[in-house]
Amino acid sequence: GKGLAVFTSGGDSQGMNAAVRSVVRMGIYLGCKVYFIREGYQGMVDGGDNIEEANWSSVSSIIHKGGTIIGSARCMDFIKREGRLKAAFNLVTRGITNLVVIGGDGSLTGANLFRQEWSSLLDELLENNKITKDQREKYKYLHIAGMVGSIDNDFCGTDMTIGTDSALHRIIEAIDAIVSTAYSHQRTFIMEVMGRHCGYLAVVAALASEADYVFIPEAPPSVDWKDKLCDKLEQASNASEFVYLALVAALASEADQVFIPEDPVPNNWVEKLCKRLQQERKSGQRLNIIIVAEGAIDREGKPITAELVKKVVVENLQQDTRITVLGHVQRGGSPSAFDRILGCRMGAEAVMALMEATPETESCVVSLDGNQAVRLPLMECVRRTKAVSQAMADKNFDLAVQLRGRS
Ligand code: F6P
Repeated sequence: GKGLAVFTSGGDSQGMNAAVRSVVRMGIYLGCKVYFIREGYQGMVDGGDNIEEANWSSVSSIIHKGGTIIGSARCMDFIKREGRLKAAFNLVTRGITNLVVIGGDGSLTGANLFRQEWSSLLDELLENNKITKDQREKYKYLHIAGMVGSIDNDFCGTDMTIGTDSALHRIIEAIDAIVSTAYSHQRTFIMEVMGRHCGYLAVVAALASEADYVFIPEAPPSVDWKDKLCDKLEQASNASEFVYLALVAALASEADQVFIPEDPVPNNWVEKLCKRLQQERKSGQRLNIIIVAEGAIDREGKPITAELVKKVVVENLQQDTRITVLGHVQRGGSPSAFDRILGCRMGAEAVMALMEATPETESCVVSLDGNQAVRLPLMECVRRTKAVSQAMADKNFDLAVQLRGRS
């Protein structure tokens, strides 16, 4: 059978185990010899026990577990050609020419470069007498299929990344818990949520928890920003094509429920926030919830931190205010049913993509398109995801939001 290996790379996320399980079982079902590579790229470079053959029962009872049972790491060795040469040797000597990588954009980019270099790596191994001519010929093509595992939902091309739904459940549970104690003491709580440079978790958590205010990295650049979004939505034939945009637009157009700092005047958010909080208390609310995405910034690109927001609330309104930073709790614990199913479906599709690949087939990333598992060119998705980061760095927030939606 064909040699196929699966590994998880970068930050872990709930549902990765479901994906690993699905890859192993689908691979075995289709007659492959399936391997785990432990500790991500590091395990591929180090070889030895890190690369181990998997069997049907080695993935039993893992679907409900958070994290990744095969470990994950950020690997510096793989960035160097020397590391990749070792990795190629470890794969060829085990007959592995099919890789399933579960990770974020960095991990997927690394995989694609590895594939592009594969031929020259094998040549070098042959020159150094590390592999035989037969091995060089037999394993001359490397095929790669990626899946996005991340709680951030920050990858272009897929409606949901594996782990986002579970993280969201965790956040909502935490906010619900905070609300009861906030109510008792008439307090204001500032909740910091993860998402790196993507405000998805913050926006959706704000919607689902009736938060009074939310700060996200993608602070919009112009006053007509929400109109533009709404126009776009109207044009869309299928609302699910604009999952991200739809949520942001829903927020922006329901401005009496949740605000996004959208005024072009820097620091005007202080005034808006205070007004909003005061209104809520005057209308009989006993508490306020403010959600701050960990990457939130103002229009000049300066961080809006939970500490800063607290200072503003205390100094201006003298409200009894506390901060809760949810941190890695969001990434831990058992995956939601959605993430388990997502991992299963993506895993099966990734293996099928590899089995159908020809030498000309581009590396793909398995994505969720509405309710369909689809294969998209890996590099195109990585390129778009990087374009979002660039747009954010250029403070072109409008472009960033557009790129995150699907067109
Ligand atoms: O990408 C997932 C994520 O949890 C981000 O939301 C966060 O910014 C980052 O990883 C934290 O990284 P680490 O686990 O290395 O602290």
